Amino acid sequence: MFDINQAILAIDHAETLDALEALRVQFLGKNGEITLLMKKLGQMTQDERSSFGPLFNGYQREANAAIASRKTALESAVLDARLANERIDMTLPADAAPKGSIHPVSQVMDELAEIFADMGFAVATGPEIEDDWRNFTALNIPETHPARAMHDTFYFPDKDAEGRAMLLRTHTSPVQIRTMMSQQPPIRIIAPGRVYRSDSDATHTPMFHQVEGLVIDRGIHMGHLKWTLETFLKAYFERDDIVLRLRPSYFPFTEPSAEVDVGYKQEKGRRIVGGHGDDDAHAWMELLGSGMVNRRVIANCGLDPDEWQGFAFGVGVDRLAMLKYGMDDLRAFFDGDLRWLAHYGFGALSVPTLSGGISA
Ligand code: DAH
Repeated sequence: MFDINQAILAIDHAETLDALEALRVQFLGKNGEITLLMKKLGQMTQDERSSFGPLFNGYQREANAAIASRKTALESAVLDARLANERIDMTLPADAAPKGSIHPVSQVMDELAEIFADMGFAVATGPEIEDDWRNFTALNIPETHPARAMHDTFYFPDKDAEGRAMLLRTHTSPVQIRTMMSQQPPIRIIAPGRVYRSDSDATHTPMFHQVEGLVIDRGIHMGHLKWTLETFLKAYFERDDIVLRLRPSYFPFTEPSAEVDVGYKQEKGRRIVGGHGDDDAHAWMELLGSGMVNRRVIANCGLDPDEWQGFAFGVGVDRLAMLKYGMDDLRAFFDGDLRWLAHYGFGALSVPTLSGGISA
């Protein structure tokens, strides 16, 4: 004989969702005990039916309700168990098991951003796919200029909507143009990023990194340029004995132009930047290009060169990284060799700050 109290008791004590489902089938399934009782109603007389009908209906309702409430309880127990199981201890030291590392190029770019931010420079960016007007023409490098050939440019087969030839930018200088055309002076930006030239040997890779600097304001002169570069290089190399030599040079986008050399000392086959002197141990090495922004470039960007002047500079980021951290083959930068990265890479948490030591 079916006992509803026994059934409810069994349901309330079901220990797993599977066990509960088995009980549901046992009582309410197609051939379940309660289902069979309901089927019997059909063979009963009117009288029997009016007393057993409500009774069996009650069994069905009670069993359903008991199953539903047990199901909720079991499901939340399952969830609790999973949450307890998958718990992550946020108080563990984050570098307990370091994985991956920051590439020296990224690290140096972060260092540059930190150093220049302290001098009031913002970081600007531009696309790596550029048009020849911004990469060359606006920078005072007309079509016939030999500098165009010198850049070993990668061109795309199609022109853009305005009929301009498209290319992979050969330097970060087009960001100067983009910045001057999109914001009003005073401007103080650096623009780090990838550049491309069809060139490859131990010191050249088809893709490499530059950082561009640009200042546009009233009354800017070369003294500002020299002070900025000196302050930057002292902070970057973390030493006070950085000595610069400005050598007259030529770039189409600057007038006058200066190549900047830095004094260094040869030590154990490595160039250590810093110091200078006439002794045999010291020498000069060319480090970056710079100059006062050419009036024509300022005018090309729609600014009045009688009102606005400025200086610009460009330097290889990979080169800066090699000099500071002692790598000697540029190609290794882009091999993706995990052993190289483990050796030269930086911890994700060693974010450069001026207060904490720029490369600490
Ligand atoms: N764009 C030059 C290059 O890639 C580097 C350069 C030289 C940038 C002088 C400048 C500059 O802004 O003033 O060779």
